Amino acid sequence: MSEFPKGIFVTGTDTGVGKTIVTASIAWNLIQSGRKVGVLKPVQTGTIVSGPTDIEFVQSLFGEDSPLDVACPYMFPDPVAPLVASMLSGERIDIGAIEESYSKLADQNDTVIVEGAGGLQVPILEDYFMSDLALDLNIPILIVTRPDLGTLNHTFLTLESAKRKGLDVTGVVISNYPWDPGIPEQTNPELIISMTGVNILGILPHDNSISVEKGDIGNIKELASSRLSPKLGGTFDLELFLSSLE
Ligand SMILES: Nc1ncnc2c1ncn2[C@@H]1O[C@H](COP(=O)(O)OP(=O)(O)OP(=O)(O)O)[C@@H](O)[C@H]1O
Ligand SMILES: [Mg+2]
Repeated sequence: MSEFPKGIFVTGTDTGVGKTIVTASIAWNLIQSGRKVGVLKPVQTGTIVSGPTDIEFVQSLFGEDSPLDVACPYMFPDPVAPLVASMLSGERIDIGAIEESYSKLADQNDTVIVEGAGGLQVPILEDYFMSDLALDLNIPILIVTRPDLGTLNHTFLTLESAKRKGLDVTGVVISNYPWDPGIPEQTNPELIISMTGVNILGILPHDNSISVEKGDIGNIKELASSRLSPKLGGTFDLELFLSSLE
């Protein structure tokens, strides 16, 4: 874990796949190992919807005296894509302001975890996407995926898009893995690895007690340690897990 990058961009194959849960889990592991951690949510939409923002949810793991250094330069009320939300509010997103927030967090912390909104090709401006932001911040991306039917398509599309943009993909984390996996869930992890060569850096199981919307952290701390790989500060043994599926 000593080689943990200075920054990591947590993206997903879609909205609602578990990026915030994964961001919180990595932040937890890094802080347990003594690192100073910053979390940047460049654009948060849907603040009108009740419940915590993504940054507030991640912070809530650490209680009132949260050691996290956080930033969220753009917050919009409507629960829509960043470009649409910014158009509705009449405030144009300035990429320079996001880069400044990142630089500030990077100066003051050992690592900055950036949580994108939605997936890689979500527009921030008419001609600027989340993938452009990851590229401009010059940090590797981590892709959060679903475990079930449809994830091969979404994961391969995301990897293809990342490659075309020249992004450095550090790995994939599968979230919401069922306790009673069917054929797609049993076969998808192995296929993602064999067909793309990407690293799977964790498989977080479905946990009924977690709800980002309600602000329930459930068993995230335990899962962060047991179900994320050593590269993300946990103890997860992927080979053992895959062999248990056979
Ligand atoms: N491992 C898990 N256990 C239980 N629920 C999960 C898990 N992973 C994802 N979910 C469900 O998906 C919801 C959305 O997760 P999360 O907010 O982390 O997604 P996201 O990718 O950050 O979404 P957004 O695009 O809105 O930022 C959670 O509230 C939860 O209901
Ligand atoms: Mg989120």
